Amino acid sequence: MNNFTFCNPTKIIFGRGMIARLAREIPADKKIMVTFGGGSVRRNGVYEQVTAALAGRDYIEFWGIEPNPKVETLRCAVEQCRAEGVDFLLAVGGGSVLDGTKLIASAVHYDGDAWELTLTGRAKGRVLPFASVMTLPATGSEMNNGAVISNATTAEKYAFYTTYPQFSILDPGVTFSLPPYQVACGIADSFVHVIEQYLTATGVSPLMDRWSEGIMQTLVEVAPKVRENQNDYDAMATYMLSATMALNGFVAMGVEQDWATHMIGHELTALHGLTHGHTLVIVLPALMDVMREQKGAKICQMGERVFGITEGSTEERIDRTIEATEAFFRSLGLTTRLSDEGIGEETIAEIERRFTKRSVGLGERGNIDGKVARKILEKAL
Ligand code: NZQ
Ligand code: ZN
Repeated sequence: MNNFTFCNPTKIIFGRGMIARLAREIPADKKIMVTFGGGSVRRNGVYEQVTAALAGRDYIEFWGIEPNPKVETLRCAVEQCRAEGVDFLLAVGGGSVLDGTKLIASAVHYDGDAWELTLTGRAKGRVLPFASVMTLPATGSEMNNGAVISNATTAEKYAFYTTYPQFSILDPGVTFSLPPYQVACGIADSFVHVIEQYLTATGVSPLMDRWSEGIMQTLVEVAPKVRENQNDYDAMATYMLSATMALNGFVAMGVEQDWATHMIGHELTALHGLTHGHTLVIVLPALMDVMREQKGAKICQMGERVFGITEGSTEERIDRTIEATEAFFRSLGLTTRLSDEGIGEETIAEIERRFTKRSVGLGERGNIDGKVARKILEKAL
């Protein structure tokens, strides 16, 4: 096992009616900016619950943080925070609202431009405290320090790291209103988050392996229930907690991480606007195939422990595990090929060009460069 430090300071407040606890979690003297997306919270009762909980508090609202939050939008919020002396941010929405809010919190006291800050990859100097009411189980953003920010002008999308939310309120009841496509993408995203921290070498940490396999098994088990009845509170609660646990650092202790599927997926979103979780289900099966020599032993372990695949030669077991993974994604109602989405050679060439220009070396061994990314994307056609 590798050395590691671990500290996740986010307080999770989970369950029915918990949004009412908001006011007691935010110090009374704070000037709050509440950030929102495009309006889903007005239709599912979350907005009313938040404003009722904040009655009598000094707050302003900022609307319009879009899916794949754009720096162009976030700059406006930064200006407003500065002008109004905001000193606490509350994000109410999905991963995009949370991520956007993380950049706002980091940029208010930063001298330069918010995109310049994004490109440095890490927050610098003072970051405003922030918290969330998370409405879409997928990203884990409610309990991690990551944010993924897009630039509409340059069609780029990059990860940025800052401080953790002080607290996050998770009420599974607010997920009943999610579009089924977002649920499918959310389950897929959570599953692939575990994979990025799991599908590397065998035997590094048996404990991390079992936790990861437990989350993946839980997602495979709960997915049909969630898809059958999105108003099933317990099923949605299980999905919601799985999404949080998939990317809050708990399965990452002392193990290598990959993240190449995400990095390639971000390019597909940047170039085509394809929803994040959907990009991952297209890239992952192809990546498993191209990287089968390096990842074979762990793929077989996953096949056995997550999908019950115990028969056949090593190569056959790898094939069957990749098939089972793709079949799981398809069972969510998602397409798993680039051609299904009308994406082809032009995009592959652009991603290869970008990765080569940036000299990227992705994956746990740093050996996925532009050329290997091309191979993966060609397999995903
Ligand atoms: O904008 P509104 O009107 O709120 O609607 C949203 C949006 O259209 C809607 N929605 C959210 N909660 C809802 C709801 N609709 C009905 N009922 C609800 N309860 O869903 C749509 C998608 O929302 P979005 O926030 O974009 O989705 P998600 O949570 O999947 O976030 C995606 C973003 O997170 C990044 C992705 O790259 C992408 O930019 N990621 C962030 C990570 C992190 N912070 O650690 C890691 C991930 O790997 C990921 O990259
Ligand atoms: Zn993701």
